[in-house]
Amino acid sequence: MKQDMIVILDLGSTQNTVIARRIRDLGVYSEIHPHDITGEELKALPNVKGIILNGGENRVVNGQAVEVSPEIYQLGLPVISVDYPQSQCAVKYQELPDQEVLKTFLFEECKAEANWNMKNFIADQVELVRRQVGDKKVLLALSGGVDSSVVAALLIRAVGQQLVCVHVNHGLMRKNESESVVKVFRDELHANLIYVDASERFLGKLAGVSDPEQKRKIIGGEFIRVFEEEARKLEGIDFLGQGTIYPDIIESGTKTAKMVKSHHNVGGLPEDLKFALVEPLKQLFKDEVRACGIELGLPHDMVYRQPFPGPGLGVRCLGAITRDRLEAVRESDAILREEFAKAGLDKKVWQYFTVVPDFKSVGMKNNARVFEYMVILRAINTVDAMTASVEKVDWEVLEKITNRILAEVPGVNRVCYDMSPKPPATIEFE
Ligand code: XMP
Repeated sequence: MKQDMIVILDLGSTQNTVIARRIRDLGVYSEIHPHDITGEELKALPNVKGIILNGGENRVVNGQAVEVSPEIYQLGLPVISVDYPQSQCAVKYQELPDQEVLKTFLFEECKAEANWNMKNFIADQVELVRRQVGDKKVLLALSGGVDSSVVAALLIRAVGQQLVCVHVNHGLMRKNESESVVKVFRDELHANLIYVDASERFLGKLAGVSDPEQKRKIIGGEFIRVFEEEARKLEGIDFLGQGTIYPDIIESGTKTAKMVKSHHNVGGLPEDLKFALVEPLKQLFKDEVRACGIELGLPHDMVYRQPFPGPGLGVRCLGAITRDRLEAVRESDAILREEFAKAGLDKKVWQYFTVVPDFKSVGMKNNARVFEYMVILRAINTVDAMTASVEKVDWEVLEKITNRILAEVPGVNRVCYDMSPKPPATIEFE
């Protein structure tokens, strides 16, 4: 391993990731570990140069304040503590130290080297994956999202043709999205890629289903079944690659913090199809995943794409999905994305998309009355998707998008702009 490491011990702080980020921003790798890690376990971690004991408001668990194992003071490593009154450290900070203090700790006391960068990270992970996988095969569900794309590129570099990627097109992808996955991974990176066009199967299962949660359940469940069927056709697979990233692990809960969401694990694959997991991105924050993708040569668009829900356009074609409205969502979304890119808004706005409701309104085309669908435009900004504000899109850009949708998308006679922040609205409509 090339990187020096600072270990943060979690004693109930809500600021663990903030400190980890700040240390990584100074060029030193850092990991968060549970408060009760033993001296032996700490010694087994590679290149640890120093320890930060990070206390905080959640230090009392089941009526008792958590403590570190005393032996961590005997490892001969520099230790500082933050908001941890019981610490035996010489230096105790009441609150998060500023960058200058952190710098002194990292580079003068711990003598850490600022060697955390994506080149070194990739070199380390390639070596670790090769060691783990040997000459066996790895299976990966490649959706084309940021995390699965970056993990695919890394695994291709590590094990080449031993990686088998499966891309399931559920028919709810955006325009040209599946084509781009095939182009990048099969044609350019020469991945061993199985492309499954399951559009008809998904649309069949979804026919007449209007309840949003039911739609999500069907899409998620069917996805696992298609993937499972492909996995069964393959022989000699021992590993499953996953684009798990650091927030997934942290949000799954720690010894002091409650679970935010369940880790989107392989959950759902049957018992006899359990593989050992290969998760080379599991220590990276999202922006580091993107930097890793760029370093691996993935296209900018793929690495910096806006979030896209797993159920895809299925939750933007409101109510029971029909082919004509699904096409209207897909085409209008493509126009919106094109015009946002032209106006430079693709780099500014966090998420933007179109929605087609399942009711019609009256209009006029070629002097005749028409009764057609409407397209709703949505463009929002947020930090964590928990709350969101509406982008104040320039009127002329909106006008251009509207005119193009009305001229180019069949069966649409009206375009609206959604002005609602979250809350009370959610980002998606379903
Ligand atoms: P809401 O609509 O809850 O969306 O404000 C918050 C963020 O989550 C995305 N989203 C989903 N992502 N599966 C996903 O993978 C889903 O079922 C799903 N529903 C919403 C949404 O696009 C937004 O970024």
